[in-house]
Amino acid sequence: MRILDAGALPQTVVLGDDLLIEGDNAQVLPRLPAGAFDMVYIDPPFNTGRTQRRSTLRVVRDEDGDRTGFQGRRYRSELLRALAYEDSFGDYLGFLAPRLEQARRVLADHGTLYFHIDPREAHYCKLLLDELFGRECFLNEIVWAYDFGGRPKRRWPAKHDTILVYVKDRARYHFDDDEVDREPYMAPGLVTAEKAARGKRPSDVWWHTIVPTNGAEKTGYPTQKPAGIVRRMVAASSRPGGWCLDFFAGSGTLGAVARELGRRFVLVDSSPEAIAVTTQRLGGDDPGITAGTR
Ligand SMILES: C[S@@+](CC[C@H](N)C(=O)[O-])C[C@H]1O[C@@H](n2cnc3c(N)ncnc32)[C@H](O)[C@@H]1O
Repeated sequence: MRILDAGALPQTVVLGDDLLIEGDNAQVLPRLPAGAFDMVYIDPPFNTGRTQRRSTLRVVRDEDGDRTGFQGRRYRSELLRALAYEDSFGDYLGFLAPRLEQARRVLADHGTLYFHIDPREAHYCKLLLDELFGRECFLNEIVWAYDFGGRPKRRWPAKHDTILVYVKDRARYHFDDDEVDREPYMAPGLVTAEKAARGKRPSDVWWHTIVPTNGAEKTGYPTQKPAGIVRRMVAASSRPGGWCLDFFAGSGTLGAVARELGRRFVLVDSSPEAIAVTTQRLGGDDPGITAGTR
């Protein structure tokens, strides 16, 4: 994987190595070649109006510590790292529109966009995508349902995200259902033993846990998405060896999945912390130096 600074990109990037690019995607996208990508997955900031933060703490033994643990031993918490990015936009659709136009330009004719958003913004984004891709190119609205966090009592606890799926060309898009993992039937007794053993093809509602807090997959990056959901998108909508793009890359989940499935990738993020986390996750040199190529 080569790590590049957006300021050092040529007018048109020639795809060869997998790439991790640090910079504003508005600056990077026009330099990516047209029609090059099988699929684009993006999970932009959701415009929550807050700064997204994640702190990683380590608990260490300290006789002067402020916590008491097993057999009265004293401990203190040590901040290992604090990661954050801004998530507040005055004109959210105005921010997204030129980037989504570019996403369409860089998709191959058989290409697919997966746009990950939460229910507060999803309907506005769907209208925008209808306008940019055409209503006929809307393929699916995937609901990713999870079970984590608080449960307010004054409304139905919000426990899903929306993934809007648009194809560049309704007649030519790539979709390989055989590549996708199967799920257990809810009522296996109602189907043959053979069918029950094989499992069912997933629908547009995906029950999947968030990134487990103590799992090996966890990078500590705020709003990291689970590889399990991104794997389905890459498996279904890209070909082996095909190029995949995430220009709001965060901790590099798309790159990790693409590599695992034998696809190629380009990742873009404006945050030096995201570049550092992704470099650590996918391998590379000192993430502090991101100018030029390595
Ligand atoms: C929701 S996070 C993505 C998380 C990612 N899907 C993962 O699994 O880790 C959104 C990311 O978009 C990045 N971002 C926000 N504005 C950007 C811009 N204009 N150009 C590039 N990246 C941007 C933020 O730094 C943040 O890392």
